[in-house]
Amino acid sequence: MNHFHRGPDGELWAEDVPLRRIADAVGTPTYVYSRATLTRHFQVFDAAWSGVDHLVCYAVKACSNLAVLNVLARLGAGFDIVSGGELARVLAAGGDPAKIVFSGVGKTAEEIEAALTAGILCVNVESAAELEQIDVVAARLGVRAPISVRVNPDVDPKTHPYIATGLKRNKFGIPWAEARATYRRAAELEHIEVVGLDFHIGSQLKETGPLVEAIDRAIELVDALTADGLAIHHLDVGGGLGITYNEEAPPSPAEYATTLIERLGDRPLRVVTEPGRVIVGNAGVMLMRCLLTKRNGETDFVVVDAGMNDALRPALYDAWHGIEPVGVPADATQVVDVVGPVCESGDFFARDRVMPAVAAGDLLAMRSAGAYGFAMASNYNSRRRPAEVLVDGDRFYVVRDREAITDLFAGEHLLPET
Ligand code: LLP
Repeated sequence: MNHFHRGPDGELWAEDVPLRRIADAVGTPTYVYSRATLTRHFQVFDAAWSGVDHLVCYAVKACSNLAVLNVLARLGAGFDIVSGGELARVLAAGGDPAKIVFSGVGKTAEEIEAALTAGILCVNVESAAELEQIDVVAARLGVRAPISVRVNPDVDPKTHPYIATGLKRNKFGIPWAEARATYRRAAELEHIEVVGLDFHIGSQLKETGPLVEAIDRAIELVDALTADGLAIHHLDVGGGLGITYNEEAPPSPAEYATTLIERLGDRPLRVVTEPGRVIVGNAGVMLMRCLLTKRNGETDFVVVDAGMNDALRPALYDAWHGIEPVGVPADATQVVDVVGPVCESGDFFARDRVMPAVAAGDLLAMRSAGAYGFAMASNYNSRRRPAEVLVDGDRFYVVRDREAITDLFAGEHLLPET
């Protein structure tokens, strides 16, 4: 459920604010998030685990705006980070370092140092080499680094290949067969403290089957490690729960949690989760304006003022996003390609889409854009990245300014004249 709806005037609103008002004040393209939706999604997800000791660590990569992180921090969220930049964001947004887990296949010594200095909950180790490096950094700092080993359970998550992470062909985690040896090594290292076990098999998961396979493998390993005399305090089941973009029907958070909790039996494990998309995906839209329409050959194009640099998912994954007029939709429908101004044929938001007729100047909203929307925006074609707005009831706040033209080349330097 989300709080984007048709208001009393028939136009698209976010909570109690007409999106047209935001577009008029801030311009387009602009990402608009709904605080009530964010809050609801977090609370529903968190409540799904209420039967067990748990911590929900929001995956910052999905949408890392400070105001969004701050709303979640105020609700008690922890955070899953993958870089020193995300660590800095979480701390700047008031996140609790003791609720941060740090994933990623290529952490630098500086990033590990920053995370240990901040006092994070756990570093998710993704290779034998990284384990040794963490020990060295922790020794230098005079601390013991809390770690989980991220195991690669080699299950097929049945999602887009670019966002599958738990197959042995993927770069992520430590191969299943080597996990026990890695833990043995971890137990030997003086500046390492084993606290958990971690996996993450992929994103936009539409069924629980692959997750059950993964958690069963993980539990088998927890039991083996316990038998080896190693205490595993938490099991991090990663993120990945899918959302409805179009006709997908992923499990509800309650169904997802119940299915996984059942597998745990009465083991005294705290469950850590790393949801991103399910919290923020349907809590955001991207506003854009139709610049013009044109017909090339057999195809009708709606050219909008946002491009693949602003919202990359359709170009990168052929992803489907709802696109609808902000104004009262016309009765007449048309079949169109909705495309941006970027110089690539991959710069499309929809192809052969049946939608209400659109004319130059009309405002459009791309739905389900909260996750991996702004977060994946770039300056390609020297385009300014969009503004971000957070709606709260009948108010809205610009939580990130649109970039200025001069921001595009700030930090660049000409060669000396001679
Ligand atoms: N934990 C780890 C270790 C991850 O790598 C990810 C996502 C998550 C948690 C959160 O997954 P979520 O709950 O959001 O599915 N850009 C792609 C998605 C990439 C996901 C990368 N990792 C997209 O737009 O679909």
